[in-house]
Amino acid sequence: MPLAWSDDYTTGDAEIDAQHKQLFQYLADLEEHMNGTIDDAYVKRFLDTLGLYTRSHFCYEEICMRAKKCPVADKNKEQHAKLLDAYTQFRHRFDVEGASTDLISRLHAFLESWLVNHILKIDTHLKKCNP
Ligand SMILES: [Fe+2]
Repeated sequence: MPLAWSDDYTTGDAEIDAQHKQLFQYLADLEEHMNGTIDDAYVKRFLDTLGLYTRSHFCYEEICMRAKKCPVADKNKEQHAKLLDAYTQFRHRFDVEGASTDLISRLHAFLESWLVNHILKIDTHLKKCNP
């Protein structure tokens, strides 16, 4: 069942919330494809899109947190670097091995945990930093 967006995830910044919703959408899309045939072309496209979107989203969010002097700005940046490292490992594994049920299922678990844990524990601090 796809991870549902709720108000618990709101950061008080409409643009960041819209970007997070897009990430939820990517997760739902991946979940939909988990039940069908997994092919290299889909997974490549998925990883390419996720990588590009995430880098741009993290950049936007880090600038926003710094501008609002959010107390978790440094922690946010550190976690983003770790998430990007994990993403790079998935990318590398895919480049070497191609798509597999195991890779997709681990990628799904990673993305879901990131959305739930990182947004709820770090990004939502922005709510208190909004004027
Ligand atoms: Fe973040």
